[in-house]
Amino acid sequence: MLYLHLYMNIVKLDAIDSTNSYLKDLVKQKHVENWTVVIADHQTNGKGQFDNEWTSEKGKNLTFSVLIRFKKLNVEKQFYLNYAISIALYNVLKYYIPEKLTVKWPNDILSANQKLGGILIECIVKNSAIDFAIVGIGLNVNQKDFPRELTFATSLKKLLKRSINKDELLDKILLEMQYQMLLIQKQKFSDIKYLYEDILYKKGIPSMFVDKNDHTFMGKIVGISTEGKLRIELENESFKDFDLKEIKFV
Ligand code: BTN
Repeated sequence: MLYLHLYMNIVKLDAIDSTNSYLKDLVKQKHVENWTVVIADHQTNGKGQFDNEWTSEKGKNLTFSVLIRFKKLNVEKQFYLNYAISIALYNVLKYYIPEKLTVKWPNDILSANQKLGGILIECIVKNSAIDFAIVGIGLNVNQKDFPRELTFATSLKKLLKRSINKDELLDKILLEMQYQMLLIQKQKFSDIKYLYEDILYKKGIPSMFVDKNDHTFMGKIVGISTEGKLRIELENESFKDFDLKEIKFV
């Protein structure tokens, strides 16, 4: 039997470079309990995907990382972890924003075309199994103004025109993450695939993409492959799978 891990060790910090880096360093120094959550009011060097920076106004948003330990999760299944965390965020946020919420592959949380949040998962692998993951989440909650370069960023406050209680939101997210991690522990991968494909941005909508050779083409997202790649139906009705960095929306 697998149970929800009801006790969580929550560490609140005023400021840190990055909650992901902090947890990673902590694990090197001492034993860190499963479901330890590190949350910071301010990150001075927040990390995004693909070595991007994650910027967030001090005190306004949720920036936190969770240490999750796994038993027998093969490293080849890591992408299900990404998808399950995206589903967790979606499931909580849909009660705040009932419309236009989607997940842009692999795990940007969008409202219409604007980014509300992102996920950065760093795994420590032992003998081809994921020993533990540091799941970093950045969610724009009460920030009203964004730097000019972040043209596509939005927040719950901007969308809902009211402030959101961050502690309540965090509790809901952590609980939903626990449910999703039960699916992972029970290896319910086809359920995760099904749930994820249902919330995928632009699924079934003809869109323009650009591949890694700067070649633009029309296609339609149909879902994900069993290797976690993005599956696109091309204009000639054939299917092609794309890995991270191999494709972008135009
Ligand atoms: C993305 O690029 O979309 C992923 C952003 C992930 C940001 C979060 S904020 C908390 C955690 N600590 C970090 O340094 N990054 C993640």
